Amino acid sequence: MKQQFQNEPTGSTQPTPFDDGTLYDLLFNDFDYGLAFYLGLAGEANGPILDLCCGTGRFLVPAMQAGSDVDGVDLFPGMLERLKTKATAAGFSPKLYHADMKSFATDRQYSLVVIAFNAFVHNLTVEDQLATLRTIREHLLPGGMLAFDTFFPGRHILGEPDDIRVLELETPSPATGLPLRIYDTRNFDRVEQIQHSRMEIEFLDSNGEVAEVRESFTTVRYIYKQEMELLLRLAGYSRWELYGDFARKPLDDEKDAMIVCAWK
Ligand SMILES: C[S@@+](CC[C@H](N)C(=O)[O-])C[C@H]1O[C@@H](n2cnc3c(N)ncnc32)[C@H](O)[C@@H]1O
Repeated sequence: MKQQFQNEPTGSTQPTPFDDGTLYDLLFNDFDYGLAFYLGLAGEANGPILDLCCGTGRFLVPAMQAGSDVDGVDLFPGMLERLKTKATAAGFSPKLYHADMKSFATDRQYSLVVIAFNAFVHNLTVEDQLATLRTIREHLLPGGMLAFDTFFPGRHILGEPDDIRVLELETPSPATGLPLRIYDTRNFDRVEQIQHSRMEIEFLDSNGEVAEVRESFTTVRYIYKQEMELLLRLAGYSRWELYGDFARKPLDDEKDAMIVCAWK
């Protein structure tokens, strides 16, 4: 793995959902959110692709299996290690860079840069958002496209009371078949546009008792539609389109997602 390390994953001592790639995959390996959209863009790309915040390769591995030439960048070593294992097992050795999205440097430019599954929101300040968008733009070939998704901060999200522990999912563990439960407890700084989230994963035993709990924390900054357009304008993109879902419906409902395509 090519190391281009610039920042420690976190200044915090709190665990994050990205420390353990195996645990991440237990939850998300079969999660197909946005995958058809990004694989469609990859199939149309005329050159190399960068999977930024690539995680364990939910997009990168199937994109390579479909014949694309894909590099990956992620800040968390546990995610990259898991990706490397999966890619090797599939017969691929992608170039993987251990770096921050706001300051990465790879040795080539891309016709497509993808940030799949809500990772851009890990930029917590306008400076970091712009640094990320500008760094990506420098890595795009002329006419190249950036595509990413995030959530739209509608009332159904921001209107929820703070600090309520919500059961998000109960599902059999793909590893053991025993139930696991995912709880999320969120609170918001609605002035600074920050969402804090505490995730608990409970692993149940065959008697239905909680055998293990894994706790992690994230802080993200949510973005409004016109703010997103302003960021893209400031970062120098020549044009952009914002959609409300992966089928490219217009973003016109606060319950929509926010899917961004922007061109150099
Ligand atoms: C929700 S996961 C998405 C992973 C992958 N794109 C997917 O679709 O499964 C967010 C990813 O962003 C990475 N990440 C978080 N902050 C980052 C940063 N500042 N620079 C690069 N990667 C970062 C995490 O390690 C994690 O892999």
